[in-house]
Amino acid sequence: MTAAPVLEGHGVRLRPLTAADQPALLAILRDPTVARWWGEYDEARVRADFSDPEEVVFLVEVDDALAGIIEYGEELDPYYHSAGIDIALTEGYQSRGIGPAAVRLLARYLFEERGHHRLTIDPAADNRNAIRAYERVGFRPVGIMRQYERGADGTWHDALLMDMLAGELR
Ligand SMILES: CC(C)(COP(=O)(O)OP(=O)(O)OC[C@H]1O[C@@H](n2cnc3c(N)ncnc32)[C@H](O)[C@@H]1OP(=O)(O)O)[C@@H](O)C(=O)NCCC(=O)NCCS
Repeated sequence: MTAAPVLEGHGVRLRPLTAADQPALLAILRDPTVARWWGEYDEARVRADFSDPEEVVFLVEVDDALAGIIEYGEELDPYYHSAGIDIALTEGYQSRGIGPAAVRLLARYLFEERGHHRLTIDPAADNRNAIRAYERVGFRPVGIMRQYERGADGTWHDALLMDMLAGELR
């Protein structure tokens, strides 16, 4: 597993998740405005989903308060080298530009420190706020991935694959 650093800038701080942060993580995932897109979480699902050593998870902090989580996973095959990002902010921290700031900070780290030339992100196709926030950072729509993920209602939902190349970061 990559030893992740603390990343700071654009008014946000990204701090690597520790075992002691599990209750905070669950509280973020149980925010109804997050669960709407991320699905229902209990402790068992948190353990299952957040135990992948290839996924690097950060808490998003604003003025020393917890605002959400952001994570990345890397494809290390040199022929397909890239990284994918996911983010969730709790309701009080949405719509204030914090999402774009956190994604920008992590994207810069992935391009400059982790040597990636291409990043991806895959919001639900009807998550307009997320799509607008990612476009603001420089991500572009690639296409719809049909029935890509199971939604909170148990049915399959389309997602929009977006990507961004080094040099396109805004
Ligand atoms: C999606 C998310 C990361 C975007 O980050 P953000 O900091 O809210 O982004 P912005 O402040 O740039 O807002 C993006 C747009 O959505 C709107 N928006 C965001 N949250 C909103 C809310 N709760 N109510 C109404 N509008 C909202 C903003 O006004 C903005 O619209 P604009 O482009 O017309 O100005 C964040 O809202 C979030 O985590 N939402 C809940 C979970 C989620 O959807 N995660 C993404 C899964 S891929």
